[in-house]
Amino acid sequence: MFMMAAETIDGKAVAKGIEDEVRAAIGELGFAPALVAVRVGNDAASEIYVRNKAKKAQELGLRGTELIFDASLSEAALLAEVERLNRDDDVDGILVQLPLPRQIDPRKVIDAIDPAKDVDGFHPTNVGLLHLGRPTLPPCTPAGVIRLLDAAGISIEGARAAVVGRSDIVGKPVAALLLQRHATVTICHSRTRDLAAVTREADILIAAIGRPLFVTAEMVKRGAAVIDVGVNRVDAAFAERLAHDEAKSRALAKNGYATVGDVDFARVREVAGWITPVPGGVGPMTIAMLMKNTVAAARRRRA
Ligand code: GUN
Repeated sequence: MFMMAAETIDGKAVAKGIEDEVRAAIGELGFAPALVAVRVGNDAASEIYVRNKAKKAQELGLRGTELIFDASLSEAALLAEVERLNRDDDVDGILVQLPLPRQIDPRKVIDAIDPAKDVDGFHPTNVGLLHLGRPTLPPCTPAGVIRLLDAAGISIEGARAAVVGRSDIVGKPVAALLLQRHATVTICHSRTRDLAAVTREADILIAAIGRPLFVTAEMVKRGAAVIDVGVNRVDAAFAERLAHDEAKSRALAKNGYATVGDVDFARVREVAGWITPVPGGVGPMTIAMLMKNTVAAARRRRA
């Protein structure tokens, strides 16, 4: 029987639309909101993420600043820096890139950020408001996932949603947002019994596990919307497991590595109704939503 492959949701295009909204909102504000992105140490991925966040801010007409500290920075010194940014009336949004070096407790740092400037939506006050369904600064990746579903015209209300992964940054908050939109939500994790039986029931499947190619075609209901939050860099050790994926195999042969999601894209696309690529799916949405949060924080704080 002939089956249509899934519709690929273009995260770059959807993110562009949000960026246009951000530009328009800044025009209405009449001033450039200021975002400060703090990085401690030289984690390679964090370097790229923080630079991209500051760059995108500047591109859209915000003021974006990178604050970079040596990996040896003490916890007390970082907390003092956060306090300084809290008090600086000219700073609208603060984000501290995770992970932090081991001498620094990320909880203490997140708790120290003024909730009104917490554009990551990680502060316990904002997490509480999110779970109460009250206005807040939502975490960027989960908010981006919801926007992708909306952009593709996928109906959330009444749908069965399975979230695989229970992290504070993605799994838990995306489940809260789906629930708020009246989905029936199951959060699955490493100790879930018969995981595939749960995911096969899902009209909306969110993969946020952090394991390459974890979600296989057998785990997906025909016609489901599959949103892949994973970003995994794999090397030649994955050549065999990627042999069926022509594009990724080519990238692997050419570069010695390939970037893949938590979903086996090439196989799952034959079953799903919608699917997001990696890269180019959720990733661009995260930064776009961060810009949106920064404008929202500026508007509320200076209203
Ligand atoms: N590390 C991985 N994802 C994130 C994020 O969304 N924000 C911050 N600050 N650090 C991260």
